[in-house]
Amino acid sequence: VFGDEMNFKEEILRLKKEKNAVILCHNYINRDVQEVADYLGDSYGLSVKAKETEADIIVFAGVRFMAETAKILNPSKKVILSNIEAGCPMADMVNAQDIINEKKKTDDDLYVATYVNSSAEVKAESDVCLTSGNALKVIKNIPSSVKNILFVPDKNLGRYVEKISGRSLILWDGYCCVHQDLKPEQIDKIRAKDSNALIIVHPECRLDVIEKADMALSTAGMAKFVRENQDKNIYLGTEPGIVARMIAEGYDVRPVDENMICKNMKKTTLQDIYYDLLEERNQIVLPAELMNKARNSLEKMIEFTELDKQI
Ligand code: 13P
Ligand code: SF4
Repeated sequence: VFGDEMNFKEEILRLKKEKNAVILCHNYINRDVQEVADYLGDSYGLSVKAKETEADIIVFAGVRFMAETAKILNPSKKVILSNIEAGCPMADMVNAQDIINEKKKTDDDLYVATYVNSSAEVKAESDVCLTSGNALKVIKNIPSSVKNILFVPDKNLGRYVEKISGRSLILWDGYCCVHQDLKPEQIDKIRAKDSNALIIVHPECRLDVIEKADMALSTAGMAKFVRENQDKNIYLGTEPGIVARMIAEGYDVRPVDENMICKNMKKTTLQDIYYDLLEERNQIVLPAELMNKARNSLEKMIEFTELDKQI
């Protein structure tokens, strides 16, 4: 069967079995694609799944830095990026040379903490990576003897972590164009209209927005909170893909702003996934030396995150 008549979902499930493939999908991806995923989650959960999978092929329905992270953590697997054009503009706001220059300025007395929304080259120049879900744990675990911590690229996440952890950070001037646009007045407006509102925003939002909200959580943190708390009217201040997921799972939740669309996350279609699997196209290929260097900062992130869980 061809074209419109093809049942992409069925074909994807068939190919997945035939090729021993797994589909890892971010919470912001289109709902129909989420439905064929083996695992749906935030950047940290997806990284751990990618590292642990025994499948031969990982199709990553997300953006480039996520698929690169999967490849670095599990280099013997074929890792496919669902749509090769899906990038993250924030990840492009810092490059490896920028980090090298900053290190030179401090005679190499610089500890680089890097948001996972970054290129493999930047990760290779970093001491530790972090995600929105583990940023506080990671920063807390950096030895207190470390004085100069450069935080790249997200200044909003950096400011938030700085405030909560009390640790001072040198912030890079990067941001997510989707979250940066959310304004404190939008939170005020919801509160004025709905006295039973509970507002959760993503830590990529501006600090003045986070301060007006009830809490800041990663997308997986939001999903967990929504499942466990249905007595208030929950509003999510982030990309509405996560809202679509929670509604599909039967929960009552709404977006703070339905226009906070990440165009890159919306590029992946079921048709993309089908042809990715069929042709094994869009594979992530990175030099081994680069991956070995970048793996250190990612492994450090996992070590710091899991360390806290054992206590
Ligand atoms: P999460 O790790 O919270 O899913 O966030 C990823 C991201 O890109 C947010 O914009
Ligand atoms: Fe990047 Fe923002 Fe899209 Fe997340 S929402 S992938 S940070 S552009």
